[in-house]
Amino acid sequence: ESIEKGGYEHFMLKEIFEQPRSILDCLRGRMIPEKGHLMMSGFFEYENKFAKANRILIVACGTSYHAGLVAEYLIEDLARVPVEVEYASEFRYRNPIINENDIVIAISQSGETADTLAAIELAKSKGATIFGICNVVGSSIARATDAGAYTHAGPEIGVASTKAFTAQVTVLTLIAMIMGRRRGTIETTKLNQLMVELESIPGKVEQALQLDEQIQKISAVFKDASSFLYLGRGYNFPVALEGALKLKEISYIHAEGYPAAEMKHGPIALIDEHMPVVVIATKDSSYEKIVSNVQEVRARKGKVIAVVTEGDNVIPSMADYVVEVPETNEHLMPLLSVIPLQLLSYHIAVMRGCNVDQPRNLAKSVTVE
Ligand code: G6P
Repeated sequence: ESIEKGGYEHFMLKEIFEQPRSILDCLRGRMIPEKGHLMMSGFFEYENKFAKANRILIVACGTSYHAGLVAEYLIEDLARVPVEVEYASEFRYRNPIINENDIVIAISQSGETADTLAAIELAKSKGATIFGICNVVGSSIARATDAGAYTHAGPEIGVASTKAFTAQVTVLTLIAMIMGRRRGTIETTKLNQLMVELESIPGKVEQALQLDEQIQKISAVFKDASSFLYLGRGYNFPVALEGALKLKEISYIHAEGYPAAEMKHGPIALIDEHMPVVVIATKDSSYEKIVSNVQEVRARKGKVIAVVTEGDNVIPSMADYVVEVPETNEHLMPLLSVIPLQLLSYHIAVMRGCNVDQPRNLAKSVTVE
């Protein structure tokens, strides 16, 4: 087992550090910016169908659901098609309205999650086209779908999903870009810039991983907190949810992810000097808004741990702790901003003596309802 961990103390840490490689593997053969090549073989036949879809429904569970939420922002923004994202367990029991003009995207690392599989069967029975995004080749979900794309992240052993999430987001980004091109909703220059930027993401993830030591120090400060709040807006809202889920899963600290502006409708009542608040506040279209959310947290004496874009000097002057991720286009930011949150949960869990790779009560793949 120690050989399989490749010198890392845990599978989860190994998998976090594999992300530059797994994202690259996921992009391989699918995108060559210099040649304007953007293609996914599993998607090719269905490009037309996707382009004509009235609506896209995304079903998933856990971390895969958070990747689906990122896709909602991506597809609506780049391809201008309405997207709904739903927990598979809710979708399957609520008599949803679906028809032949809908496309259902099912996202699953394992390809074996019972609720996601049942949601697929239901959507199929109503005539929808089902597209799967799975990591495990030949899995039940990969076989149950009409078409699909593999994430090529390699085996993920740690129960808390890390590299599968970034690979899912990468595939979904490619889908949004291809759909936008086909539907004429994204300008060629913008598409080309996005392709070039996406190509630079593995290198930028590598840079973000260098935050590891700094994050260990922050983890030592907050490891005994009883509760955490994670805030983000826009593309970083699903990242806030994912950061909170990671912390809950492996460190058993209560954590909530929230859209930053929604804080005033509830969670703000929880903020005092004992409450660490992780704010994902990278430079994007919601930046100015999130600056004022940080001020609101400060005014209530909350301890702010901010994830910012390199070179930002506004939020660092207000936050207690700051980690900088490289600059990128806002559409791609979740691929970078999630990295410090994965590391934070990992180090806190290790410092609390938790079983990081096999947390209590959780399973890697949930094959029962
Ligand atoms: C379990 C795992 C999570 C995962 C979720 C969905 O809860 O512990 O890490 O996100 O299932 O799994 P899937 O394989 O469908 O992505």
